[in-house]
Amino acid sequence: MANVKKHIDIFATTISEFEYVADEDLKKEILNSEFEQIKKSHTSTSNDINLQNKNQYKGFVTKIIDTAKEMCDFYGYEYDELEITNMWINISQKNDTHMPHNHSNNIFSGVWYPFKNKITPIFFYDPRNVASFWQPRRKKFNVINSNMISYENKQHLGLMFPSWLYHSVPPSDETRISLSWNIIIRGKYGEPNSLQNASI
Ligand SMILES: [Fe+2]
Repeated sequence: MANVKKHIDIFATTISEFEYVADEDLKKEILNSEFEQIKKSHTSTSNDINLQNKNQYKGFVTKIIDTAKEMCDFYGYEYDELEITNMWINISQKNDTHMPHNHSNNIFSGVWYPFKNKITPIFFYDPRNVASFWQPRRKKFNVINSNMISYENKQHLGLMFPSWLYHSVPPSDETRISLSWNIIIRGKYGEPNSLQNASI
């Protein structure tokens, strides 16, 4: 051993965890929301997809904006302001799935589990599609040698990730409730006079 001096991870994909405990008002509000069934066997979403504007969500909104600001610092992104563009509830009945998807036209997306759900995880997929071209048999799966990462949904856990990252939910073990949102960075994009700069 000890021939490699250093292993350096490049082109990292970061998932940022946080924790938030819902108060009783917020739990009631979530459970009393109206839902639209998208199609059979698919997770339903709340009719209101701008929950960030509702009073009961104020504390939670502050939490995710503060978390996203820390993420911007970690990524080294400048920003004028962070804006939640949508926020909604997902509800899956037993065996409902949520097919692989990402969230276009946003920078960060997130999910949070206000209730105790059964184990049904969330899957994240390796964005480097060429990385799974050869797959030497693995002694043990880890974040370097895997092309899909499964995340257990734990009550109070929140995850934020780049909006381009594909994710899905397998058939639900039982009723499963989560909240989702998208965030855009308001500010300057690109280097000045690069012909690839914008103010968004
Ligand atoms: Fe999603």
